[in-house]
Amino acid sequence: MSENGLYIQLISVHGLVRNQDMELGRDADTGGQIKYVIELAKALAEHPDVDRVDLLTRQVIDSKVSDDYAQPEEEIGPGAKIIRLPFGPKRYLRKEVLWPYLDSFVDQALKHIRKIDRVPDLVHSHYADAGYVGAKIANLLEVPLAHTGHSLGRDKLRRLLDRGIKQESIEHEYRISTRIDAEEYALDNAEFVVASTQQEVNDQYSYYDNYNPDRMLVIPPGVDLERFYPPKSRWFTPPIFEELSRFLKQPRKSIILAMSRPDHRKNIASLVHAYGKNIALQETANLVIIAGNRDDIQAMEKGPQEVLNELLYLIDKYDLYGKVAYPKHHQADDVPVIYRLAAKSKGVFINPALTEPFGLTLIEAAASGLPVVATEDGGPRDIIGHCNNGILINPLDIEAIQLALLDVLQDRTAWQKRSKSGIKGAHRYFSWSGHVKTYLKQVKKVLRKSSTKRKIARRRTTRLPMSDRILVCDVDNTLVGDAESLEELMRCLQESQEKRIGYGIATGRYIESTIKTLEKWHVPMPDFFITSVGSEIYYNGSSRLIADTSWGRHIDHRWDPDAARNLMQTFKGVKLQSKEEQRTFKISYFYDPKVAPPVADIRKELRQNNIHVNVVFSHGMYLDILPMRASKGLAVRYLASKWGFHPERIVVAGDAGSDEDMLSGETLGIVVANHSAELNKLKGRERIYFASQECAAGILEGMAHYNFFGSMKV
Ligand code: GLC
Repeated sequence: MSENGLYIQLISVHGLVRNQDMELGRDADTGGQIKYVIELAKALAEHPDVDRVDLLTRQVIDSKVSDDYAQPEEEIGPGAKIIRLPFGPKRYLRKEVLWPYLDSFVDQALKHIRKIDRVPDLVHSHYADAGYVGAKIANLLEVPLAHTGHSLGRDKLRRLLDRGIKQESIEHEYRISTRIDAEEYALDNAEFVVASTQQEVNDQYSYYDNYNPDRMLVIPPGVDLERFYPPKSRWFTPPIFEELSRFLKQPRKSIILAMSRPDHRKNIASLVHAYGKNIALQETANLVIIAGNRDDIQAMEKGPQEVLNELLYLIDKYDLYGKVAYPKHHQADDVPVIYRLAAKSKGVFINPALTEPFGLTLIEAAASGLPVVATEDGGPRDIIGHCNNGILINPLDIEAIQLALLDVLQDRTAWQKRSKSGIKGAHRYFSWSGHVKTYLKQVKKVLRKSSTKRKIARRRTTRLPMSDRILVCDVDNTLVGDAESLEELMRCLQESQEKRIGYGIATGRYIESTIKTLEKWHVPMPDFFITSVGSEIYYNGSSRLIADTSWGRHIDHRWDPDAARNLMQTFKGVKLQSKEEQRTFKISYFYDPKVAPPVADIRKELRQNNIHVNVVFSHGMYLDILPMRASKGLAVRYLASKWGFHPERIVVAGDAGSDEDMLSGETLGIVVANHSAELNKLKGRERIYFASQECAAGILEGMAHYNFFGSMKV
């Protein structure tokens, strides 16, 4: 925890996220989760131990949605902001198609961290997509991850299979296995998981390979008590009342209120059946159904379209005209008012959903003094258990729904009791400030644990996010080779600890062999490793190495190693190196210049055979075949862009042909005196310094030339 207080980064990738006038229910991706994260951000920032909260989400630039979602920043409240990061296509996309772009979300998040010059104390991801992103960011930064699933893929898969839907079509529509993989990955990496109910833990998370109940924390979501409060004593007629009055013959009758997205699972149809079939119920109360906003039902997606068509049909079938209101539109600010209207009318809130792990609307109703009837499932069971403000029902039992509604509406003494106890329970058990208190207790516990872990490992956390200059060295014959000057170089780096220096190595060796060599020469572990000639990147975590998997994905482009190997076989004088030297993205040969054709001819032949690779020749004897996008230089550039380093603040040292592309360009190059002939062509180039000394002494000489420990002006 920094001295000013905690910096918490919340991540919620999909949907339309804004603080002002949230468009909840506009589509399947813009619902309860959006509200949850905004309110959590606000409540966290209000706590005295928290200094800053950023809610990272996707930037959407699309004329079909409001321009608000294109703004890079929006304030939620003091100390809390929405940060919108651009990644993938600009337009609004549903969450199922965002998967391929999530790695660039990671890169953008790192850029943001660099820009504000502050590493979060905790990353908290929401839903599977953010779980994927959050686990990566937390690993790269070496900070703890918290995760909230909101809803879970394995549970969804099971329900869809139960409904007889085929696995392939579930896969096609929902990318369910990608989602489940991301969830497993997030659970595997999370220090703790926040669930809303115990049932969610027992019945849903338990299906995961990474189920670990010790790390699960049940804290119900809070409700915004400043927005949801009981009605004042006078009857009132807000604009939404006028809207409802267009539907209702006797608009001041008690209201049976249902509010949910038009989703099959919300089971609105059973409610209409229950109401339509019961005259006593119709005489006692009107039915008000708030099912999102709509313009043209026919233009909506299949699911909501079916639900709304069925609703209209049932109203007609039971001839409920004048008794049921189902407004086309409502604003976010109307929602608390609708609850108050229903409470004022001595009505009831009903949630007949088929399953309900959460039930935020029930807490809102409780806080508004409106008694409830709800599905007997995890969320409602907890809420009614705490608030004692209503009745649980089997959502498929029409008669039970009718009886429960009549019971709540007709017994006025019980109504008063339920209303009062709901308000009390909401304040006591479901306030955000209470939520945040429990949450922060856990966060502090985790932070204490992770700082002890770091001390035990006796390694500092990665310096990359905070570095303002970077040294990248080739290993053999550059960094190592001369023990004395190497020791001197290490001492200089050590003594400049207060400077924000990041240091990495770039080598042809594979990772295990690199580490062995560094250990042999007593070189402290660097912040990052570019190994196997730039085809692999690793970071030095406090307890383990972390592979940069997005680099692998990036360079996989057009990589066809079999084709390359087959063609290489046809050349004389090139012989495969040992098995260990062959990597997923690197094929390595010994090259005998006396027998083999010139390297330029080999390149040409490969190209003519439509084999697009990067051929790297070094030390007059090694020939490496890499994907087009892989090289030491490209890896350095990738790291620079990922972590937001300016190339002019990167000093690169090398000695051979495989270092050529990382020495050229905007970076500041050093060629040590003992370099191979391949690098002679770089002589006289701007920003490439040819040292007069060998190995580490040459590096030190070059660093002095660039004033690396000083102002670093070229
Ligand atoms: C290292 C690697 C080898 C590679 C050479 C040149 O010696 O072990 O596989 O060919 O560097 O990049």
